Amino acid sequence: MVRIPEPELMEDPTQVESYDKADFETAHSFLIRKFQDRLPQRFLPESILDLGCGPGDMSSRLYSQFPNANFTFLDGSEFMLDLCKKRIDTLVSKKRYNKINFKKELVQDFVPESTYDLVFSNSLLHHLLDPFEFWGAIQRSIHNDSFIFISDLIRPDSLNQTNQLVERYANNEPEVLKTDFYNSLLAAYRLEEVREMLEIVRLDQKLNLEPITDRHWICYSKPKL
Ligand SMILES: C[S@@+](CC[C@H](N)C(=O)[O-])C[C@H]1O[C@@H](n2cnc3c(N)ncnc32)[C@H](O)[C@@H]1O
Repeated sequence: MVRIPEPELMEDPTQVESYDKADFETAHSFLIRKFQDRLPQRFLPESILDLGCGPGDMSSRLYSQFPNANFTFLDGSEFMLDLCKKRIDTLVSKKRYNKINFKKELVQDFVPESTYDLVFSNSLLHHLLDPFEFWGAIQRSIHNDSFIFISDLIRPDSLNQTNQLVERYANNEPEVLKTDFYNSLLAAYRLEEVREMLEIVRLDQKLNLEPITDRHWICYSKPKL
């Protein structure tokens, strides 16, 4: 089934509010567990980048895991970034606030002042019309020992399968969220497409790519030998 791109930024107020209020507990805690399982032992990043942080559900989980790190939360949508700021505000004490940086910027324009020990991104790649803009931002943000963790949706084989996934995982959600999920599945990249991207940008030697559910893949740094 061909890919049908969706708009890059999430800026429609109804869409943003329903995404912010959605219950991602099951999916996000599962992804975070996979992230934790793949981290090298005793890995303690001093600097962390969350690309496409959205309203900050994943961001706040990362913050809780590494409360002493310097964070950059980046999103091109001001509305999303404001919600992320609100979420993080509830966790951060005032004296630590200078360690948190909220950046309203497109991923394709992002040129970090310095590299990050941990680069994380969930559910951003499928938004990009040109996926290589995403991989370019990842490459600009890492040093030799950075740990990378990326997760996103897998485009299903058919519209029929797409409808089944929406029914299975978003049946009780508001219509706007169901539509969002449907559009995101159609915009998502196939595993073989992501694999080809990794080869083209020469990250295939550095990163593992795995399907982990019927609709998600993860991509993360290979352990150092
Ligand atoms: C599906 S949400 C994921 C949010 C969050 N990472 C999560 O796991 O809940 C995708 C986010 O990426 C942002 N985004 C999409 N395209 C972008 C771009 N080109 N540059 C920066 N942010 C972008 C959207 O505004 C949205 O907030």
